[in-house]
Amino acid sequence: MEKEAAPYRQIVAQFEKSYGRLPDIVVAAPGRVNLIGEHTDYNEGYVLPVAIDRHILIAAGPRKGRKVSLRALNLGEEDAFSLDEIDRGERGWSNYGRGVAWEMERAGHRLQGMEAVIWGDLPMKAGLGSSAALEVAIAYSFHLLSDLEIEPLQLALLCQRAENGFVGVQCGLMDQITSALGEEDHALLIDCHSLDRQLIPVPPEVDIVIADTGRRRGLLDSQYNLRRQECLEGARLLGVPSLCSLSPKELAERRSDLPPTIYRRVRHAVTENQRTLEAAGALRGNLEAFGRLMYDSHHSLRQDYEVSCPELNILVEAARKVSGVYGSRLTGAGFGGCTISLVAREAVPEFQARVAKEYEKATAKKPPIYVCRPAQGVREVSRCR
Ligand code: GLA
Repeated sequence: MEKEAAPYRQIVAQFEKSYGRLPDIVVAAPGRVNLIGEHTDYNEGYVLPVAIDRHILIAAGPRKGRKVSLRALNLGEEDAFSLDEIDRGERGWSNYGRGVAWEMERAGHRLQGMEAVIWGDLPMKAGLGSSAALEVAIAYSFHLLSDLEIEPLQLALLCQRAENGFVGVQCGLMDQITSALGEEDHALLIDCHSLDRQLIPVPPEVDIVIADTGRRRGLLDSQYNLRRQECLEGARLLGVPSLCSLSPKELAERRSDLPPTIYRRVRHAVTENQRTLEAAGALRGNLEAFGRLMYDSHHSLRQDYEVSCPELNILVEAARKVSGVYGSRLTGAGFGGCTISLVAREAVPEFQARVAKEYEKATAKKPPIYVCRPAQGVREVSRCR
């Protein structure tokens, strides 16, 4: 998102219209797409996401005192609250801003009142990390306007705590870390136990293609929290601190210690962790192997973890038939949302035409398809004053 881009000019104009002055800052926080490593973050395993070139943009300025006003342009809604008394908001989205402010204050950061407008080109509830991007963009705006010094990783951890404690979704860390720390042209291998990170170049000859089922389900009203509990139960029964500390072989030996459903959940987490490490190696030069691991991941999410749905399966099967597609799988939490496919650049037009056609034939809906490149994590696009 550059200063010259139309969304940037529009958000500055909208701020001026709302508050009668220019904003002090404009920040952009990217969404994310996960290449592989699904539902492993809260099991303290590996994930391999990229930040994408679709963002939440915020134009903001300080406001005297401790009042905060946030206007969501995409929704045509506004939220206002006081930093001295942060209670739960009535609108779903307002709890992201309130939760982030609450966590930052709780961590000892004294925040300055703020006026802001928010706009995004990230589809919401589509499994592309829009909630995390919103949290990170708000936290970063507070951080800049209140002259704080918070490391990006700490900012991501604050945002995750806001989502767990205030919004009520027991999400892991992947989305917030990626939105805060992603790098252009790279995927981020994150060890969710130690929080160590490694940048892995995404080969220039492939594109990351996201296909959207159009089916929406937020994490609060899906079985996301239930899956997390099932994993905790598995770890408790096996007497391990977290599921990803087990190898597939160790798990196979302990099969009889678990009820069948919990065993399948655990098997997904343990094998997905293994696949993610292998995939990180394969991304450096063996895209065929990488693609096979993506299909295996989808199969495991569908059969063992049971977070796929017919629409996602149709998109994956349609992608599989296009030559030049290395691999395809559901991405994010599942229950609807998007698939991600790794596609040789020259095969992208064919992918767009054939996958859209097959999906439309099966569901009578056209799937939006986004071709993405890995983008930089949260940043200040410009300081206007
Ligand atoms: C959501 C959560 C993440 C992660 C994924 C599944 O995106 O926010 O923390 O658990 O689901 O991999």
